[in-house]
Amino acid sequence: MKTAIIFTTNHGATEKVAHLIGETLKNNSVEYFNLKNNPKIDLADFDTIVIGSSIHAGKNQSEVRKFIKNDTLKLLQMKIALYLCCMNQPQEQAEFEIAYPELLRKHSVYNAIVGGEYAFEKMNFIEKFLVRKISGVSSTTSKLRYTEINNLVNSIDNENSI
Ligand SMILES: Cc1cc2nc3c(=O)[nH]c(=O)nc-3n(C[C@H](O)[C@H](O)[C@H](O)COP(=O)(O)O)c2cc1C
Repeated sequence: MKTAIIFTTNHGATEKVAHLIGETLKNNSVEYFNLKNNPKIDLADFDTIVIGSSIHAGKNQSEVRKFIKNDTLKLLQMKIALYLCCMNQPQEQAEFEIAYPELLRKHSVYNAIVGGEYAFEKMNFIEKFLVRKISGVSSTTSKLRYTEINNLVNSIDNENSI
């Protein structure tokens, strides 16, 4: 089985989750694609596509939205799973719906909201200011949901064994 994990990230959390997923999948050869430096992907080379992105100021990255828009028809004919990194728990379901269109959410074998990380050492001055102001957090924090990451992996493994 060949899996492409296609993601965008600002400070590395979504990439970290991509590797957690890729390293846990059974019987899979995995390739990773960061859409910010690797936008050309031949989807036909893969059995499964995992798409990940993260929320910054209410939206996920434009590169992932553009990729999905251009390839919706192909993605709807493939096995896919979606995940999202975000930290605003009360808004997370709405943010997931903004990040990924309904057609894909319904087609996906698993939709995972996996929490996120505040990486202060990678933020610029404005980002640090915003995070402190909005969340009250002022140092590097990880709130990744490993159970949700495993649920996504198990869903793909189960689909592959049918
Ligand atoms: C400047 C900034 C703005 C953010 N805005 C939001 C937001 O609007 N909603 C949310 O749920 N999380 C927000 N977050 C949290 C990120 O989604 C979280 O840090 C995520 O793990 C980032 O993943 P990445 O490093 O892969 O980009 C924000 C984080 C930063 C640094």
